[in-house]
Amino acid sequence: MVTLFLAVLLITHVVEMKELEQLRRDDSDAAMSSVVFTIIILLAVLLIIKFLVDIVFIYAAYKEKCGMMKKYCIFWIVFLVLFIIAFLKTLFQLSAGYVIAQILFLDQKYWKSLAEKELEEALQVRFNLRTAKNVILFVGDGMGPNTVTAARIYRGGESHKLAFEAFPHVGLLKTYSADKMVPDSACSATALFSGIKANLGTLGVDATVPQSDCEASLNKDAWVDSLAAYALKAGKSSGLVTTMRVTHATPAPLYAHSASRSWECEANMPANAKQCKDIARQLVEDWPGRDLHVEGGKIDMAHHRGRAKTAVDETVAMERAVQVAVDMTSDEDTLIIVTSDHTHTLTINGYPERGSSVFGIAGVSPFDRINYTTLSYGAGGPGSFQYDIKTIDNKTRSVRREPSKEDTESYHYEQIAAIPLDENSHGGGDVAVYAKGPHAHLFHSVHEQHYVFQAIAYAAKIGPYSSGYTIEVNIILLTTAVLLLIKLF
Ligand SMILES: *[C@@H]1O[C@H](CO)[C@@H](O)[C@H](O)[C@H]1NC(C)=O
Ligand SMILES: *[C@@H]1O[C@H](CO)[C@@H](O)[C@H](O)[C@H]1NC(C)=O
Ligand SMILES: [Zn+2]
Repeated sequence: MVTLFLAVLLITHVVEMKELEQLRRDDSDAAMSSVVFTIIILLAVLLIIKFLVDIVFIYAAYKEKCGMMKKYCIFWIVFLVLFIIAFLKTLFQLSAGYVIAQILFLDQKYWKSLAEKELEEALQVRFNLRTAKNVILFVGDGMGPNTVTAARIYRGGESHKLAFEAFPHVGLLKTYSADKMVPDSACSATALFSGIKANLGTLGVDATVPQSDCEASLNKDAWVDSLAAYALKAGKSSGLVTTMRVTHATPAPLYAHSASRSWECEANMPANAKQCKDIARQLVEDWPGRDLHVEGGKIDMAHHRGRAKTAVDETVAMERAVQVAVDMTSDEDTLIIVTSDHTHTLTINGYPERGSSVFGIAGVSPFDRINYTTLSYGAGGPGSFQYDIKTIDNKTRSVRREPSKEDTESYHYEQIAAIPLDENSHGGGDVAVYAKGPHAHLFHSVHEQHYVFQAIAYAAKIGPYSSGYTIEVNIILLTTAVLLLIKLF
């Protein structure tokens, strides 16, 4: 009787669950409750069968008084084994973590507790109005929001948080350059470090210098100082760490002024640019500082080759570096900023299952019946253009390659792109900026990219916001004041 009661109870619950699920058909998270649904159905079926068999057994035992018992036990052992196998199959297909979370929190409660935790954290956030003694600026080259999302899913699933995603303040940056809707690293790094928008391909100079115009770049009025230069002027030390060449377009605007990012050494310079100094010589001969700006430059390189997994892996590597910086410093005096110079054309396509690999297959296209990957690019190099020309029924057609026949989990796999170019191009979307520490709240909205310079200068009281004067100037002012006072009395 107890068994029957339990079965009825479960079936009622199942019906409720089913109604709930129908209400949320469009919700992509419905998969979660269907896990519980499956388990409960299995349990209910198990209990009903037990009830029926119990009746048969009691009847048989009553009639024969012996013999049945053994068969009955064997039947139950076989049945339980089958049930456990079915249960485990459900577990593994739908990811054990979700099933366990579901059993413990039961659907709505789980989501509510997630949101309540976030609200609690948000209510704890206080503005830190101190002056930043140290500033660490992480620039993930080409690390657009989709790259960050893919890195998050890769690292710990959809609800995971990367180290910098736990920072209390976040904004968006508009990355366009003075002349282009979509920038390159040279002009976007100039915006971040020197506070002005420049022309594509130029660095450390303002927009009066067209790309590759050596003569225009010789005009020192066009030169812009970087945060590193201002920090040195304020008597601070400053340095840079990069996974690229130190003369590459992203770090170069910290110390150099050049009409072309490709003038890294003399050999790369055209004959009509001979009176301009190459970027390497500017670093060695003109820059007073020695070896913190940290760049993860390989994210961009991997994206240019269309290798999303390598780019995502590099993003995770940068996240580890951010974590180290967070662990080594204090919120009291160190402003940590994580951002990017520009995006790439990486997209995350619909509708892969929760918990599946972000580098895997999203599904089959109902249009051409060929699988497609979760990640793809808008514009890409030859390796990203995965269409074959085939003759079908005497007609020439371009046919997409079947990705499930390739190792999409490989670091060298190149995701498909829609538009063929010589290499994967940058994207023009906004990038996120994450901040913690003194004046981190200045990053709170949709900002211009070159605002980052302004906000850092303000937070650290350097450059345009330095408390004014160096010690020598202060001594001169003080002496003048004293002399004036003496003269007055
Ligand atoms: C394709 O063209 C060839 C030669 O013109 C013809 O013999 C054949 O029937 C055509 N096949 C189809 C499927 O139309
Ligand atoms: C699509 O990919 C799945 C594996 O993800 C594979 O089983 C299936 O055969 C593929 N479909 C086609 C049309 O190749
Ligand atoms: Zn690039």
